[in-house]
Amino acid sequence: MMADHCNLVSVLGVFLVLTLFHNPITVAGQFIPPVGLFTFGDSNFDAGNKQILSKAFVAQGFWPYGKSRDDPNGKFSDGLIAPDFVAKFMGIPIEIPAALKPNVNVSRGASFAVADATLLGAPVESLTLNQQVRKFNQMKAANWNDDVIKKSVFMIYIGANDYLNFTKSNPNADASAQQAFVTSVTNKLKNDISLLYASGASKFVIQNLAPLGCLPIVRQDYSTGMDQCYEKLNDLAKQHNEKIGPMLNDMAKAAPGFQFTVFDFYNAILRRTQRHMNFRFFITNSSCCGVGTHNAYGCGLPNVHSMLCEYQRSYLFFDGRHNTEKAQEMFGHLLFGADPNVIQPMNIRELVVYPIDEPMRESWEPTTSSTTVQTSDSSRGYAFY
Ligand SMILES: *[C@@H]1O[C@H](CO)[C@@H](O)[C@H](O)[C@H]1NC(C)=O
Ligand SMILES: *[C@@H]1O[C@H](CO)[C@@H](O)[C@H](O)[C@H]1NC(C)=O
Ligand SMILES: *[C@@H]1O[C@H](CO)[C@@H](O)[C@H](O)[C@H]1NC(C)=O
Repeated sequence: MMADHCNLVSVLGVFLVLTLFHNPITVAGQFIPPVGLFTFGDSNFDAGNKQILSKAFVAQGFWPYGKSRDDPNGKFSDGLIAPDFVAKFMGIPIEIPAALKPNVNVSRGASFAVADATLLGAPVESLTLNQQVRKFNQMKAANWNDDVIKKSVFMIYIGANDYLNFTKSNPNADASAQQAFVTSVTNKLKNDISLLYASGASKFVIQNLAPLGCLPIVRQDYSTGMDQCYEKLNDLAKQHNEKIGPMLNDMAKAAPGFQFTVFDFYNAILRRTQRHMNFRFFITNSSCCGVGTHNAYGCGLPNVHSMLCEYQRSYLFFDGRHNTEKAQEMFGHLLFGADPNVIQPMNIRELVVYPIDEPMRESWEPTTSSTTVQTSDSSRGYAFY
C-alpha cells in the first residue's frame, strides 16, 4: 500500500516535470522555427559592413560607439541595434554578422546593410540596395538552401540617404519635382524587393522612413532651432511612406506566397520626440554624442572634440542620426510584438510562423496614426508604444 502510494507520487512527479519542461518553447504557444534573419539597407541596419568597404577611418569601430557594451564593432549605436533584438526574440543563438566580413557564421542570416546606402545613384564606399541583393545572390548557393530562404525574415530600411541627398542637391525642388523623385525612389525599391522574391525570399519586413526632418543632424544642418523639425524632409518621408503599403499590397496580390509587413518607424520616432517623458527619454531633439547646436556632428571622429552625454539611455539619439541602444531595444520589441497600429498587417512573431506559400488574408491599411500622436496625454492606448 505504502509502496503503491510512493509510486503514484513519483509517477505523477515525473509526469509533471515532463509536462513542464518538455520542449519549453512550445509551452507558450510561440514555437519559432529555426530560420534566419537577413537585413538590407543603410547604417541603421549595418552590422559592420562599412568598416570593410571604407578605406577611411570609420568611427563606429571605436569608442564611444558600442560604449554601453564596451564593444565598438561597426554598429551605429552605443550598443546593439534593433535587428539584434529581433534576432534574439527569434531565438537565433548567434549575432547576425556583417555579410562582407570574412569567416563569419552566416548560418542564421547576415546583414547586407551598409552605411550611406541608397536606392538610386552610386553611393561612395557603400552599396545600393540592388548591389546588396546581388551580393546575397552570390553568397546564396554556398550558404543557404531554398527552404531556409523561404522561411527566413528579410528586413529592409532604405531611402533616407536618397532624400537627404536630393534635398541638399535640389534645395528649391517644387512639388512636382519632389513627387517625381519619390516615384523613382519607390519604384526602385519595388524592383529590388522583386529581385529578392525572385531569389526565393518570401517574408519581408519593410521599415518605413523616420521623420527625417527631426533627426538632430538635419535640425542642426538646416538651423531649425530646438523645437522645429525641417518639414521639407518630413514631407518627403511622408510621401515615400504613403506609397509603401499600397505597393506591397499590390505585390502580395500579384505574387503567390509573397508575405510582408510594414513597421511604422515614422510615428514611432515622432511619438517619442513629441511625448518624450511617456517613453522615459529626457532628450529627443539633440544627440548624446557629437558637436554643434544639436550635438549632432562628428561623434567619435579623431579630429573632433565631441561631447558625450553621461547617461545614454535617457537619449533617443546617440549620434546625429542613429538611435541609442535603449531606443533600438524598444524598436526591437515593437517589430517583434506590437499591434497593427505600429506594425501591420502583422508583427514579426506572427510573420515567422505564417504558413509559407499561403496568401495573406489581411492587407496593409492606411492608418490615422499621425492624428493619434496628437491626442491628449490622459488617453492610454497605443500612444504609449
Ligand atoms: C554557426 O552557428 C550555428 C548556430 O546558429 C551553429 O550550430 C554552428 O555550429 C556554427 N558553425 C560554425 C562553423 O561555427
Ligand atoms: C546625390 O545627388 C546628386 C545630384 O542629384 C547625384 O548626382 C548623385 O548620384 C546622388 N548620389 C547618390 C548616392 O544618390
Ligand atoms: C523637441 O521638439 C518638439 C517639437 O518637434 C518640441 O515640442 C519639444 O518641446 C522639444 N523637446 C525638447 C526637450 O526640446
